[in-house]
Amino acid sequence: MAVLVTGGAGYIGSQTCVHLLEAGKEIVVIDNFSNSSPLSSQAVKEITGKDFPVIECDIRDEEKLGEVFSSYKIEAVIHFAGLKAVGESCQKPLEYYDNNIGGTVKLLSVMKKFGVKCIVFSSSATVYGEKHTAPFNEEMEVGGTTNPYGTTKLYIEQILRDLCASDSEWSVCLLRYFNPIGAHESGKIGEAPNGIPNNLMPYISQVAVGKREKLSVFGDDYDTPDGTGVRDYIHVADLADGHVVALDRALSVKGCEVYNLGTGKGVSVLDLVKAFEEATGIKIPYVIAPRRPGDIATSYADCSKAKNVLGWEARRDVRKACEDTWNWQKNNPDGFTK
Ligand code: NAD
Ligand code: WQD
Repeated sequence: MAVLVTGGAGYIGSQTCVHLLEAGKEIVVIDNFSNSSPLSSQAVKEITGKDFPVIECDIRDEEKLGEVFSSYKIEAVIHFAGLKAVGESCQKPLEYYDNNIGGTVKLLSVMKKFGVKCIVFSSSATVYGEKHTAPFNEEMEVGGTTNPYGTTKLYIEQILRDLCASDSEWSVCLLRYFNPIGAHESGKIGEAPNGIPNNLMPYISQVAVGKREKLSVFGDDYDTPDGTGVRDYIHVADLADGHVVALDRALSVKGCEVYNLGTGKGVSVLDLVKAFEEATGIKIPYVIAPRRPGDIATSYADCSKAKNVLGWEARRDVRKACEDTWNWQKNNPDGFTK
């Protein structure tokens, strides 16, 4: 039996593939490569020394999905596939609703048709919206998302809850990621954003490699220790470990469960810049710029549920994430080209 990994060529998906293979799981990857390269799956094969099918397939293509489910014995799905750029989602809301929500509905329909009722879903801390004070815990009311991307995560969570309510055979694990950073320690896979990075860590590493002149720090007047935004940066390898345990949990427990995956620690923009400089010895020039619309001051997780129920907690620190990011970035300044 195999685990179908949608979006498995992407940043978090490819790292999770490594950890699944190392845990002895069989995997099948599908991806439409809209934001990734098949070379990342090739690198996963090199890292693990294991082979697996990689199929170009859009999750909105029900017919092709059906062929995948007919060709392989799938026992569960880890569902990463989706568009994730917050700013772009405000410009192109219909594309986000179609791809993320429409695609997920198609995927779930095909899963149901083939009697595969176990799914681990990539949700986001963004579903907590703006009204709570960190640390965010899973009991807090979700909603009040500030952009269409976040709203797709909120709605998909609800769709999955409704599915579980309609049929007690479904197992759903909603994983709310905080801020994933870092890369595989081999330097063979990592985050390769198209164009100007939206997220802080890829921006810092592109400054370090000389692709960008300086970082703009979006606001230094927040109510935080140094005035810059505070986030919960989690190493992508810890996140991947979280998926392996969440998958085992979903395979053994029916119903819908939700877990935060973070470190529980708040790190400011300037803390992250400093950690990167210390880890790499490279100075990151920056300027203070206006606040970015939609940003909140502070976001970090209460991770006690994942620790108590799944026995999972993040083990790698921000320095390790900076070292691994730099190892990936300096060897692959233009992402997957070789
Ligand atoms: P990514 O863009 O690197 O990976 C997503 C993958 O899905 C890409 O390979 C892309 O080509 C593929 N894809 C997109 N639409 C598809 C479709 N219709 N059919 C098939 N494949 C499709 O992003 P990531 O950072 O690895 O994120 C993975 C998941 O985690 C996403 O759902 C994202 O929203 C979620 N998430 C990411 C973060 C983050 O900060 N990176 C935080 C919280 C949640
Ligand atoms: C982190 C901090 C910025 C860039 C986003 C999504 C969220 C989730 C993770 C998917 C903030 C500051 C950033 C820069 C800066 N994705 N910053 N200069 O906004 O916490 O979360 O990615 O689900 O939904 O919203 O992450 O990395 O963009 O920003 O000063 O050039 O860095 O203001 O304080 P964010 P981020």
